[in-house]
Amino acid sequence: MPKISDTEFILIVDDNPTNLSVLCEALNSEGFRFRVAVDGESAIAQAERNQPELILLDVQMPGIDGFETCRRLKANPVTQNIPIIFTTALADTESKTKGFSLGAVDYIPKPFAQEEVIARVRVHLQLKQLTESLEQQVSDRTKDLQKAQVQLVQQEKLSTLGELIAGIGHEINNPINFISSNIPPLQEYITAVTELLLLYEQEYPNPTAKITNTIKNLDLNFVLEDMGKILNSLQIGSERIQNLSNSLRNFSRSDSDAKIAADLHQGLDSTLMILQHRLKANGDRPSIEVIKNYGELPQVNCYLGQMNQVFMNILANAVDALDEAIMQSKMSNLIPQIKIATEIDSEQLVIIRIADNGVGIPERLKKRLFEPLFTTKTVGKGTGLGLSIAYQIVVEKHKGVLEVNSQPAMGTEFIIKIPT
Ligand SMILES: Nc1ncnc2c1ncn2[C@@H]1O[C@H](COP(=O)(O)OP(=O)(O)O)[C@@H](O)[C@H]1O
Ligand SMILES: [Mg+2]
Repeated sequence: MPKISDTEFILIVDDNPTNLSVLCEALNSEGFRFRVAVDGESAIAQAERNQPELILLDVQMPGIDGFETCRRLKANPVTQNIPIIFTTALADTESKTKGFSLGAVDYIPKPFAQEEVIARVRVHLQLKQLTESLEQQVSDRTKDLQKAQVQLVQQEKLSTLGELIAGIGHEINNPINFISSNIPPLQEYITAVTELLLLYEQEYPNPTAKITNTIKNLDLNFVLEDMGKILNSLQIGSERIQNLSNSLRNFSRSDSDAKIAADLHQGLDSTLMILQHRLKANGDRPSIEVIKNYGELPQVNCYLGQMNQVFMNILANAVDALDEAIMQSKMSNLIPQIKIATEIDSEQLVIIRIADNGVGIPERLKKRLFEPLFTTKTVGKGTGLGLSIAYQIVVEKHKGVLEVNSQPAMGTEFIIKIPT
């Protein structure tokens, strides 16, 4: 049996007191709540104010008749979805057809048979409730699908990007190995040749004018000294590229189907390395100080590529929040900081805290942070996907916990907890 709640009611529209009392009695006997209108215009006004679940509408009334009342109700977006049942003594086919063509769902002939009234009312209440629940379901599903689609697109982009990064990391590795592995022998040869030159100088203290001139023009002492420095900077440069190449490969490590034992500190460090350019000072703000407080962590069974994505999304947000804080308070001398702390707790959960002293998050926004597409940033700067993806990876993929603590104007801390 269709239920009708305290605020729901059926509207009866009839100008005839006898008809009204029969209908009222029928509905009353079944516990339906109802209201009454005695002409078309007051029925419309009532229905606009409080939408009934169903309208029982008389056709012949003084003023506007039932057909016109029906037409107006159906033309008004507020009332157009309310099912209307005509109550009519006009049993001729034409009137019935007209009623249906105006959008009525049914008709009840007069004189009323109480059982019939109740049966028809019941059916249409049930139909309306079913329709509403279907509509709700369709709208829920559509929203879910939209979310899923956005996430799929994003994941697809990330995985393509991940492959690209891994590829570049790999490609750089060969030539840079080539360079760095040749530096030590080059250094040796140069040392040997330098020694030879010095030996010549010793053994032949009075060379020809041609040689003396060349040495002078060349500024031999400077060249010998500078060569060493150049070699040194080649060495440092190639080491940096090698680190970067390793970080790129580590960061974008493609995750197989199974989790693997991984070093989360290495993941954090690779991510920081890749984010390096955003941590440096820019026109508006000093460089961001990264304070690491790593505890002893065991290898953690996880999808490391995805965990790196989580670190990246949270760290990138921290940088944004610090940029914002500096922008908001031009005068103050805020030292932008990101603190990263790790530990393992007594329940063998690995805990990673990433905190910034940026703008912070207003209380009212906290519960929306992890919603897909929720962003407070301008178009082009924010997509609102970072935290929803992070949440999915931590909570759904790793059965972990992702929490946030924040105080506006003080900063924000994200806490990731992952079972080992
Ligand atoms: N560290 C933080 N400090 C302040 N606000 C944050 C921080 N991290 C996230 N937020 C807020 O959460 C929102 C959603 O973040 P996210 O899902 O990464 O999307 P996006 O960064 O693209 O806006 C951000 O727009 C921002 O308002
Ligand atoms: Mg983000």
